Amino acid sequence: MSDYENLRRQLSEHGQEHLLRWWPDLDENQRANLLSQIASLDLGLVQHLWNQAVSGSVRKSVKQEAMEPAPVRRRAESFEEWEREQQEAEVGEVALRAGQVAVLLVAGGQGTRLGHPGPKGTYPIGPITQRTLFQIHAEKVLALTRRYEAPIPLCIMTSPENDTATRQFFQTHAWFGLDPGQVHFFVQGTMPAVNATTGKLLLVEKHSLALSPNGHGGVVEALARSGLLTRLEQQGVRHLFYFQVDNPLVKVADPVFLGQHIEARAEMSLKVLPKLGPEERLGVVVRQGGQLRVIEYSDLPSELACKRSPDGSLELWAGSIAIHVFDLAFLKRLAETSALPYHVARKVVTYVDDSGLIVRPEQPNAIKFERFVFDALPLARKAIIVETDRRQEFEPLKNAEGENSPTTVRQALSDLYAEWLISAGVQVPRKSNGSSVYPIEISPLFALDAEELRAKVDNLEEVAGPLVLA
Ligand code: UTP
Repeated sequence: MSDYENLRRQLSEHGQEHLLRWWPDLDENQRANLLSQIASLDLGLVQHLWNQAVSGSVRKSVKQEAMEPAPVRRRAESFEEWEREQQEAEVGEVALRAGQVAVLLVAGGQGTRLGHPGPKGTYPIGPITQRTLFQIHAEKVLALTRRYEAPIPLCIMTSPENDTATRQFFQTHAWFGLDPGQVHFFVQGTMPAVNATTGKLLLVEKHSLALSPNGHGGVVEALARSGLLTRLEQQGVRHLFYFQVDNPLVKVADPVFLGQHIEARAEMSLKVLPKLGPEERLGVVVRQGGQLRVIEYSDLPSELACKRSPDGSLELWAGSIAIHVFDLAFLKRLAETSALPYHVARKVVTYVDDSGLIVRPEQPNAIKFERFVFDALPLARKAIIVETDRRQEFEPLKNAEGENSPTTVRQALSDLYAEWLISAGVQVPRKSNGSSVYPIEISPLFALDAEELRAKVDNLEEVAGPLVLA
């Protein structure tokens, strides 16, 4: 039986034979493209997920058991707690120096809300120099490499859509000073979109399926399938510091966090923040049925999201900011068991209709399937959750305007650097809300943190205008 006939038979078994409707119109290359896309589908899985989506079984399981606040290690307030953090930092630093830590950056998303042409990491975000997100992240890794005298691997997950552009961007910028052998790109998998009413797979062109990246949770499978997980293991890496491309404030490979993870013998660790309010779009970490898990904001019933403790604070307050440490052995186990579930989301997807016309709907018409990396949490034998400070670590670039937009992210960067300068004894003019009057930018290569900065700004008394330290 030819490839074509074989696939046609499989498609009709799953009610998806319409994908070959335009076959007579296609040229050789288009036919080859379509066949290879169809061959790489797991039709049984799509069918199963569609059945789940219609029966609503995913949402029901979220609602069934009571959720309580997760145990969180709160921020250090006493001198003893601060001292303990210094000891933990030493443990993290030993691991960094020994080459046991790799940095894992997920950058495969489509960035639809931001609407920037090209990978989100290429967005110019530096408050003055317009440093891109990728440059900021890469310079942090370079600064850490110099500080700990170990070539910390920077592993970047891309998608089929943005892989070439991402690699070219790094090449054009000479890997931002990193050793090219230190930077590893790997491509995440895709999932097809289906018609939200019928479950039929959608074509974006007559010869091409509507495919999209399979979520940041696709990182587990993609790392393993690319062979990178094994290579890192052979290199002696034991812990992976995970973060997302859109947050330039992240303390990459934070030694305190690494030390806490290592000392606790955790398989996975998370940083959390008190949510700003019930409506903030952060997943919350909860304990449910004796297990820790992150509940996506869209899955958290509003009565629970709004519930307050007697002191007025949110009861389920701990918002996950997508900063994790994973043990490599844990990721290997997850990859072997293909354990992360898929979530369904209704989205707008352009498609070819029955008459061959391209339709661009205004309302969600399709269902997409995505894996979320935080679903690893209940599968970890041991996990720790640590509170951090929003001003020091979190302002993601999500939207073109309004909250989490270039304006708020640039301001958050200037404010963070202003705090570092103030702690070094420099006078920095601030507005009544505490934010910096002037844009300020400090290259990670000049100083990675407030402590490093202190030693370098002896001659600076006051900030009297926009300031770049590079
Ligand atoms: P978001 O959930 O914010 O999605 O991703 P996004 O694609 O960047 O933006 P929108 O929703 O289309 O506007 C959070 C992080 O997870 C990565 C993103 O690159 C970002 O770093 N991600 C997301 C992936 O790597 N792969 C995916 O399939 C989805």
